[in-house]
Amino acid sequence: MAEFPYAEQFGVNRTLPEDGFDKDTVLSMLSTMSSAENPKWESGQCSGTMYCGDHDHYDFLNAAFSYFSYVNALQRDLCPSSTKFEAEIIAMTLDLLGAASLSGTEPAGLVTTGGSSSIAHAVLAYREHVKTPGRPNMIKPETAHAAFAKAGHLFGVEMQVAPVDPWTTLVDVGWVKSHIDVNTVALVGSAGNYGYGTVDPIEELGQVAIEHGVGLHVDACLGGFILPFGRELGYDIAPFDFSVPGVTTISADTHKYGYALKGTSVLCFADKALRNDQYFYLTDWSGGRYCSPGMDGSRSAGLIAATWAAMVRLGRSGYRRYAKEIYATSAAMQDAVRQHPSLRILGEPSFLFAFTSDEFDVYLVNDFLRTRGWRLNGQQYPNALHMAVTRPQTQPGVVERWALDLADGVAYANEHRGEAAQTGAFYGGVPGGPTDEADAFIRSMMALIMDRQTSIPSA
Ligand SMILES: Cc1ncc(COP(=O)(O)O)c(C=O)c1O
Repeated sequence: MAEFPYAEQFGVNRTLPEDGFDKDTVLSMLSTMSSAENPKWESGQCSGTMYCGDHDHYDFLNAAFSYFSYVNALQRDLCPSSTKFEAEIIAMTLDLLGAASLSGTEPAGLVTTGGSSSIAHAVLAYREHVKTPGRPNMIKPETAHAAFAKAGHLFGVEMQVAPVDPWTTLVDVGWVKSHIDVNTVALVGSAGNYGYGTVDPIEELGQVAIEHGVGLHVDACLGGFILPFGRELGYDIAPFDFSVPGVTTISADTHKYGYALKGTSVLCFADKALRNDQYFYLTDWSGGRYCSPGMDGSRSAGLIAATWAAMVRLGRSGYRRYAKEIYATSAAMQDAVRQHPSLRILGEPSFLFAFTSDEFDVYLVNDFLRTRGWRLNGQQYPNALHMAVTRPQTQPGVVERWALDLADGVAYANEHRGEAAQTGAFYGGVPGGPTDEADAFIRSMMALIMDRQTSIPSA
């Protein structure tokens, strides 16, 4: 992988071109890059990220997006349609997540730009809503997404990290209970968590939250649009939504298993008082009285329209049909893992599963799998690989390919026991290909993180 992608093919724009390129040239460049990149996931060998993977569906969403792509949803007098779309996205999500069982509260929501944003808005809402004598804190399972740590860092909320059972991967509720103090504003549970796809004991956490008068955020960024259908299909999934007493907020990503375009998520509140406390108002500004419902200013009406379009197009039966295929595929892929005594699946997963090895470094298996085009997500403590099963894996032949390649990967790991693996735990996965490409990728990512700048090669 070149340090700066496509430099040789298309050059590098270090300055705004004096005269713009013609339309066909620009579109042809975009098409070339897109066509080069799509096969990496179209094969069905890439974990997560491309949840729908259906180009007809993407074309439909792009058409929906195009009607409002240039509209700013902040200027509602120009686009009452955005109010319709946003209100209905929130209402449909609340309904899916059991809000009908709430009583005495006014359920509400926010459409945000993604899972991390929904989590950040929740952390901000708890900080603003609950007055504490000292620095506010939340208690999150170790497995809860890194976005909680990021939000805590941004908003000055301390994140107490509760241990999880290494066998079940579920949070230690006793630990959570014993660490609540006067500054605790909320607890966190995941449904399912990023690493293992497992669902924390939300009912127990809800009881603890009620007993101590604190909030409970359920991170269903991953599971929000698939677990409800898994339950309907008869899978054994512990209750996790607003039907569980004590749950006060839920994040659910429309841009994951909601099959919308990238860039939206829904943060649901059991009661709108909590949501309203994170609204921002500046009434005495020379630019005019300013108010925004969340952290963003201008927002894309196109993304809101496309998200609405995805939801009403698929309907419950569409989501259920996709969930059925995904659950069946995940079960078959897990069965292939269980064929190997040297591999161990962590916890009791459903649509997303992770496995480790007590006999060799599981990254040796990954080293081999990526030579066959697989892109799994790498984890640590313990070293593990995860596969978030999405629609591309449900294509004919993928499960069979998985079983064969995994068997060869285990044989490779056995042959290379004790040797250093080439791949490692990197959020989002390392691209397949020779080791030096992976190293270059990690180096460029680290440069990005450490230098906080993009690396544009010098002329
Ligand atoms: C459980 C969970 N929560 C939150 C997030 C963060 O979502 P995003 O990447 O959309 O910010 C993810 C991402 O995969 C996730 O799996």
